[in-house]
Amino acid sequence: MPGFIPENILEDILSRIDIVELIAGYIPLKRAGRNFKAHCPFHHEKTPSFMVSAERQIYHCFGCGAGGNAFNFLMQYERMSFLEAVEVLAKKAGVALPDRQKLSPGAVNLNTELYKINELAVSFYENNLSAACGLLPRSYLKGRGINDETIKLFRLGYALDKWDALINHLRLKNINLSLMEKAGLVLAKEGGGYYDRFRNRILFPIFDIKSRPLGFGARVLNDKDNSQPKYINSPETLIYSKGRNLYGLNFTKDSIREANLAVIVEGYLDFIIPYQAGLHNIVASLGTALTIEQAHLLKRYTDNVVMVYDPDTAGQMASLRTLGTFIEEGIDVKVVSLPEGYDPDLYVRKNGIDSFKEAVIGAQNLLDYMLKILKTRYNSKEIEGKAKIISEILPTINKFKNAVLKSEYVRKLAEDLKVEEDAIWQEINKIKKEDRGGFNTDATVRKREINVNPTERLLIKLMLEESDLIERIRQDLTPGDFRDAITSKIASIMFELIEQGKSIEPKKLLNYFQDESVAQLICESSFMTGITSENKDRVVADCIQRLKNEKNRLRRQRLHDEIKLAQRSGDEERLHTLIQEFHDLIKKEAGKI
Ligand code: CTP
Ligand code: MN
Repeated sequence: MPGFIPENILEDILSRIDIVELIAGYIPLKRAGRNFKAHCPFHHEKTPSFMVSAERQIYHCFGCGAGGNAFNFLMQYERMSFLEAVEVLAKKAGVALPDRQKLSPGAVNLNTELYKINELAVSFYENNLSAACGLLPRSYLKGRGINDETIKLFRLGYALDKWDALINHLRLKNINLSLMEKAGLVLAKEGGGYYDRFRNRILFPIFDIKSRPLGFGARVLNDKDNSQPKYINSPETLIYSKGRNLYGLNFTKDSIREANLAVIVEGYLDFIIPYQAGLHNIVASLGTALTIEQAHLLKRYTDNVVMVYDPDTAGQMASLRTLGTFIEEGIDVKVVSLPEGYDPDLYVRKNGIDSFKEAVIGAQNLLDYMLKILKTRYNSKEIEGKAKIISEILPTINKFKNAVLKSEYVRKLAEDLKVEEDAIWQEINKIKKEDRGGFNTDATVRKREINVNPTERLLIKLMLEESDLIERIRQDLTPGDFRDAITSKIASIMFELIEQGKSIEPKKLLNYFQDESVAQLICESSFMTGITSENKDRVVADCIQRLKNEKNRLRRQRLHDEIKLAQRSGDEERLHTLIQEFHDLIKKEAGKI
């Protein structure tokens, strides 16, 4: 349950927002009969299967299953939290929300505080860089080919060569030290007191996709001095987690969506220099292994990535293998490895952006690339070498969910190494068994097909179509009679609302659930063609009977098992009661027919 915000306020907001207008602000919609149609923004497709209903004020994609009301759309498209989506639409609709203090638990407020402090720090560092004290770092950046416009856009900054410059600045703004510490901006001294974390360094603020500052990367000014680490970074905080963000995405998400491709580089400069030169569909991983959260983040904008490696990371199997996470998410992964001695920053400055773009276009398929590297490492003519190569590459092939792609790669691998395809499939089956033992069940959880009992699904659909039927169904069934967790949840909320004398509409019902599967089921049912009215009563009676029969069948089975147990243990008294119960049940059922 979303909680916190009263249901009537949510309904008020929804009644003043037109979902067609809202979604049309993001993607082009075309009228199609009573609905509007579009290419789904949540997965890539050739023919549009994303539908928006003006009448019901909900959307649904028949391709990927995404669906919901206006709140759900912002949550999915802009990756907002429920509260954020409510705030945005409330503002748009001119509906006043109850006091935020009362709405949100402490954690939400602390997050807001941390964004605020980071924002203060970003502007402080920015000002340092443009002031007289920023002469040295400015000339360093200039020497690296970064112009003023770029500095301004990415809000680069400079931390003074002092222990307490930021502390003093923030103190004047009445920020307390413990908050500064929670933001990762200051460190506690051993003997008491605090000092600035970033000193005499160029600062690269890291933003989330809504451009809120989360943390910093900080680079030394002097390339020659190796006594200090080249970069120091913000620690993990309440709002910042390295693996959950991609540097630059807030600036480049639209270009990535447009190009339907994200170029991923490793470093800040490797992002900034190509961007400045005109390649805008780019993000930086900041030198860490790519995570599933980052895959999800990118998947909102594209299904295609090209990973650009420096030569020193290019050959590392471990780092290549982390790209398997992207494959698992259905993202097509290609790899570029730059010539010896180059990183994207240097490559663009030496050879120009067009040459870099060509390298991106010529990127190699991840598996072909892995195979190439492995063949330099093992002797692919010898049987041991072949086995080694196969065992290193299979975990990645196995990440493909698409069976056609997967078998295509198996075929290619078999052909390339001159081994039997069957042998490779046998190895894959071994991995599968090992996987099942582990916790790696993510893939099954996110499956888009919702498998619920068809009778229960039909009942939900009927209740959505006609509120009058809900009362009738409620007299015969309890939510517990719906054996699927999803349908049972939906039925229970519907029954409750009817009891309170409230009307049921899909768009309102959606406010009670945060679960995407529930939203999918509700929207899917709402968009399916209706059942003709003269049939409805009969269909409802049929469904109810079927669920009851199933319930009785299960009860009979249970009784049967218990009777057997009682017989075996010789518990005469219990046996007697159970048999009585069994007869009663059968009599009752017979009476119904
Ligand atoms: N990195 C880090 N800590 C280090 C070195 C690197 O966090 N001590 C991260 C930074 O995010 C950096 C990325 O790894 O941007 C890639 O490292 P590198 O290629 O060395 O950095 P560049 O951004 O290319 O920086 P530069 O060109 O200034 O050396
Ligand atoms: Mn570099």
